[in-house]
Amino acid sequence: MDSPQYRVFVCTKKRPPNAPEGCCCNAGALDIYQTFQDEIQKRQLHTRVSVRRSGCLDNCEAGAVALVYQPKRLGFSWLPTKIQVKLRRLLFPNRHAYGHLTRADVGAIVESHFVKGQPLKRCQIS
Ligand code: FES
Repeated sequence: MDSPQYRVFVCTKKRPPNAPEGCCCNAGALDIYQTFQDEIQKRQLHTRVSVRRSGCLDNCEAGAVALVYQPKRLGFSWLPTKIQVKLRRLLFPNRHAYGHLTRADVGAIVESHFVKGQPLKRCQIS
C-alpha cells in the first residue's frame, strides 16, 4: 500500500488545568482529532490522508494545533541532493501548522487542503 499523500498530526498533549503553558487537550484537541477522522472517512479520503494523535507541537499558546505534513514532493533528481532539498523547501513547503482550531474549522481545512490542494490560510499559524 502506498503511503498517504498527507499526514495530519493533531496535538493531544494533556497537562494539568493550572499549567502555565496550557495544552491542546484542554482546548478541545480530542474533539478536533475525532472530527478530522470523521471528515476523512465521510469524504473517503482515508487512502490519501492519515490522521494521528501527537504530543506537543511547540505551539501551545495556539491550541488546539494540528500539523499537516506532505511526505512526497516533486523531485529534482538531476540536481545534487543539497540543492534538491533547498529547492523543495523553497518552492514546495511541505509542512503547514494550523492553530486555534475549532470543530467548525476542520471541514474547511479538509476541503481546502486535501481536496483542492490549497492550505487554508485563515487557520494557519507560523
Ligand atoms: S500542547 Fe499542543 S502544541 Fe503544545
